[in-house]
Amino acid sequence: MVLTAFSIKKAQVYQLVTEYKTNPIGIDVLKPRLSWQLNSDERNVIQTAYEIRVADSKVNLQEGKNLIWTSGKVESDQSVNVIYEGPKLQSMQRVYWQVRVWDNKNRASAWSTPAYWEMGILDKALWTASYIAMNDITTEKKSHPSQYFRTEFQTNKTIVSAKVQATSLGVYELYLNGKKVGNDLFTPGYTTYNKRLQYQTYDVTNMLKDNNAIGAIVGDGWYRGNIGWKGDYAFYGNQLALLVQLHINYADGSSETIVSNGDWKVSYGPILESDMYNGEKYDARLEMDGWNQNGFDDSNWKKVDILNHSKDILVAPQGPPVRATEEIKTKKLITTPKGELVLDLGQNIVGWARMKVKGPKGHKVTLKFAEVLDKDGNFYTKNLRAAEAKDSYILKGEGEEIFEPHFTSHGFRYIQVIDYPGNLNPDAIIGIVIHSDISPTGSFTTSDPMINQLQSNIQWGQRDNFLDIPTDCPQRDERAGWTGDAQVFSMTAAFNFDVATFYTKWLKDLALDQHDNGSVTNVVPDILTGGEGVSAKGGATGWADAAVIIPWTVYQSYGDKRVLKEQYASMKGWVDFMAQKSGEDYLWNDPKHWHWGDWLAYDADKPDYNGSVTEKDLIATAYAYYSTSLFSEIAKVLGRTEDIDKYAQQAKNIKKAFVQEYVTPNGRLVSHTQTAYAMALSFNLIPENLKEKSAEYFAQDVKKFGHLTTGFLGTPLLCTTLSKIGRDDLAFMLLNRKEFPSWLYPITMGATTIWERWDTQKPDGTIIEGMNSFNHYSYGAIGEWLYTHVGGLRIDPKNPGYKHIIFDPHPGGGLTAAKAEFISLYGKIKSDWEIKDGEFHYEVTIPANTTASVTLSGATSENIKLNSAKLKAEMQKNLKQTQQGVQLELGSGTYRFSYPQPAK
Ligand code: BGC
Repeated sequence: MVLTAFSIKKAQVYQLVTEYKTNPIGIDVLKPRLSWQLNSDERNVIQTAYEIRVADSKVNLQEGKNLIWTSGKVESDQSVNVIYEGPKLQSMQRVYWQVRVWDNKNRASAWSTPAYWEMGILDKALWTASYIAMNDITTEKKSHPSQYFRTEFQTNKTIVSAKVQATSLGVYELYLNGKKVGNDLFTPGYTTYNKRLQYQTYDVTNMLKDNNAIGAIVGDGWYRGNIGWKGDYAFYGNQLALLVQLHINYADGSSETIVSNGDWKVSYGPILESDMYNGEKYDARLEMDGWNQNGFDDSNWKKVDILNHSKDILVAPQGPPVRATEEIKTKKLITTPKGELVLDLGQNIVGWARMKVKGPKGHKVTLKFAEVLDKDGNFYTKNLRAAEAKDSYILKGEGEEIFEPHFTSHGFRYIQVIDYPGNLNPDAIIGIVIHSDISPTGSFTTSDPMINQLQSNIQWGQRDNFLDIPTDCPQRDERAGWTGDAQVFSMTAAFNFDVATFYTKWLKDLALDQHDNGSVTNVVPDILTGGEGVSAKGGATGWADAAVIIPWTVYQSYGDKRVLKEQYASMKGWVDFMAQKSGEDYLWNDPKHWHWGDWLAYDADKPDYNGSVTEKDLIATAYAYYSTSLFSEIAKVLGRTEDIDKYAQQAKNIKKAFVQEYVTPNGRLVSHTQTAYAMALSFNLIPENLKEKSAEYFAQDVKKFGHLTTGFLGTPLLCTTLSKIGRDDLAFMLLNRKEFPSWLYPITMGATTIWERWDTQKPDGTIIEGMNSFNHYSYGAIGEWLYTHVGGLRIDPKNPGYKHIIFDPHPGGGLTAAKAEFISLYGKIKSDWEIKDGEFHYEVTIPANTTASVTLSGATSENIKLNSAKLKAEMQKNLKQTQQGVQLELGSGTYRFSYPQPAK
């Protein structure tokens, strides 16, 4: 067969990623997974074969010489997460790789542009550096000054490459010759530190000189700082430490390793306190000019101690680092009725303020942070509870000074400025947005600005709460990795941003913190263990189920089987725990099983709750069924034959018990609530013959209230289930409602993020006291329905990771247009509809190497037009007329359909 090469413009292989990252260095995945995309906007392109080759240099790779591994030509359409099967790689080994593909039109592509990855430290014996520490072990419950470490060294040979590995007990900033290494924040990141400690690797080849200095600042961070809402400190340890190792390869073939050891010096500096919740106190008069450069006089500094701490727990980071991603200027300068000087950024963000200031030496400026103004327009911080959220800066008095804190963050829209010297120019203080640097993948827009604002609030809520772990909220004295919040939001999260490695990393900590009996902790990393009360116990329904549901979400969204494999024991542990607790009758109705149920449901805290509280044992049994049946599905995906039937049977038994206990022969649920119906119907717990009746009861309840009554567990299922039972009218009614309780009510109150409670702030501006955040993403879980149902862009569960896409848009609620876009591992997917001049216009983009089913509701094979022309015969072949309309099977490409808008 004669192969013609792709013309460069038409199709090439590109976007090569290793373990979801472009050219990562310092990874410790032994068999990394490689993905690429076919760059083609042609119709019906499918990869039929691929060939990968790997070499130790770019030259060898491109010449095809001395290859480390070649896959050979593999007949396969797999272009995502192909496992490297070459020989075991060595520590710090860099390899280059490229790929070429063949397609279903008998064409071969050229070899792709080379990409690379580089291993981290695989052999623990290579950790020759020591943990070094200042002698300030403390048990005091307070924030401490950050510590400054330094050393100097010379190089006098030509350098080929230099990599530094670093980590700390505490959070660190690393400097080489006065410059910060990398732009990551809060390194080494937040893990369950006693079991897993991440180290970072940076390429510093271009930062070295003949005379060098390494400096590092280490702050309390999550390790030793204030954590949890009980004022606890030093959860993981009471002494900070630093570990640094710098490898230099010289042109003469020799190499050298500079390590943290007993020769390093340590000192306190200008950071007097840096606390995650309370903020930073910085005295610029104490700055030590040139401390991180060569030639600094450190004779006043102390020698470090060597700390004996495990190096076996060191791991390379898998998730994205935290970074500053955006700067936000002040929108308004306000003087409040109380006379406070307040800047309004117009958006609730997470991060800090960068301040420019000029004034006399010793003058102190204080910045306080808040999410809202109270009903009188004054600065409001009560909902931060014990978190002070306050940065203060003492000037050195040497002209313009710029302050940014180091190891703290705040959740805020408003900044109160206290004692700013001179006139405050609003541009002198700007908001710096920080979060895990997850790349945006999804967008959803409609013809309705309020719904667009809702989507914006959901996405901001995600940015604000993805700070190395998925937090419940980013502002008060909590900011913990609550499993339930993460679970309910995970699918929406996976539409908005690339969260594959973010969750993969966090799930490892979930599994490590899991109890021996399989029970899953309520927060991960588990900073509640050892504490008292219900929160410390774990095993909460809907929360602990994160162990099964989030890996499933990652598999669905990215086709990632490895996460299922790696989390398998953890999932099984949780599912078995539930089985054991439920006992022989399969009902999880043990009164000792404490959990939050449908947390924060409408009026749930009132004694006369008026029918919105769902019984907790019903919820527990429903979730046990859901996670158990998912687990059986997962066993199927992984081919674990021994578990498939066992857990399918277990699920069946739970369902039978559920029906007997909670469903009347008339299809009514004993908890006659929206949450109960949404859960039972969406988890498939209602027998076929009763579905219609249950659906009717569900709809009646929604109509009776005229609004939602659901909490954390019911809300994500509410609109999806109403749509599933054919009640889009009710789902859109709930979406469009602007009064409390609803998704749009907070927007009428000016919300720019999702609130924790439906009534976090009352219509008269009153703010509920106590636990109350303006930035909790849980209720943002409606995002999934917006993308999949309104936008019509869905995953095919049987062919996940968007290898096969389902397009099925649902106009409604008065919308005249909606567009959902998603950047999948195959490329950009688009589902874009508009109703105009009585016509329904629908455009879809299907990336190369994927296929799709498109449903055009209300269309007929006669009235559909493709690019304004009647469907050609070859398209008619792939068409099925269904009751709903027309269903088409399509290959890659962009298609513009139109047909007369069907009457409702
Ligand atoms: C958190 C929640 C969490 C809950 C458990 C709260 O303090 O903010 O979002 O899931 O506790 O009910």
